[in-house]
Amino acid sequence: MPEIVYLNGFFLTKNKALISPDDRGFNFADGVYEVIRYYKGQPFLFDEHIRRLERSLNAVKIVFNDTHELQNIFNRLILENRLNNLYAGIYLQITRGSAKRTHHFPKENLQCTIYATAFEKKPMLKQLKTGIKVISRPDIRWLRCDIKSIALLPNTLIFQEAVEHGADECILIRQGNITEGTHSNAFAVKNNKVYTHPDGNLILSGITRIAVRKICSELNIELIEEPVKQHEIHNYSEFFLTGTGNEIMPVVQIDNYIFGNGIPGKITREIQRAFFKHTYEQLAGEIIGI
Ligand code: PDD
Repeated sequence: MPEIVYLNGFFLTKNKALISPDDRGFNFADGVYEVIRYYKGQPFLFDEHIRRLERSLNAVKIVFNDTHELQNIFNRLILENRLNNLYAGIYLQITRGSAKRTHHFPKENLQCTIYATAFEKKPMLKQLKTGIKVISRPDIRWLRCDIKSIALLPNTLIFQEAVEHGADECILIRQGNITEGTHSNAFAVKNNKVYTHPDGNLILSGITRIAVRKICSELNIELIEEPVKQHEIHNYSEFFLTGTGNEIMPVVQIDNYIFGNGIPGKITREIQRAFFKHTYEQLAGEIIGI
């Protein structure tokens, strides 16, 4: 079955989706994106994704006033690609549009380029159960990591290093502090309290991170938004990452340091269980065996 994508008002097969070589997304990475998880046709925290999209658009001064139309577009993509009974994701990219290459914004009023795809995203059951290994590298990104920009070259370069070292993600270090992962937020646990880098310009305010905040408050687990120092990591008993792709992912090893017995920690498991209740159970009506 050919993949159906959305481009600028049309639903069409992917091979017919043509984007101009003058698109500022292509030439300058002048655009923003979102990735939203769908649990058997039900989006996870849809409104929060749209709010973050609007913040990113405002921050880069792209004028797009039709965010209220996106839900229908995404639903149709899920249906057309027969993903409504599966675990899936939507990728949305909005660029400033296409115009002769100039570093300043083009003078004429541009039509943004709106592109969206739907894809199957199965739960990463094995890793969610056993946990993953990660490496650490300097955070070489810019100082507006709060914008979900499509300019992801630093993230891809660093993640590639993780892949080459047999690791599943790379955590980023800025001035001795763990900021986040290349495509995930980072959390550490000490004395049953959860620590994570505060919101601001140095991390992306993750939607899964919002869910963790809510779950911690429901479970009476204290969540402290202050940076974890890399050189103090051995004082923490657990570590986990969060993201639309990896949900609540236990980390059992950072570089050569192994947490506990190399198995996911108790608090991580509690948060993971609560998250799966909100997602697989409540949205998809399925209990997944982890
Ligand atoms: N990335 N931090 C960064 C740098 C990210 O790229 C992501 C998500 C997150 C987690 O955010 P959320 O919980 O909203 O997914 C944190 C997406 C999934 C991606 O680039 O594919």
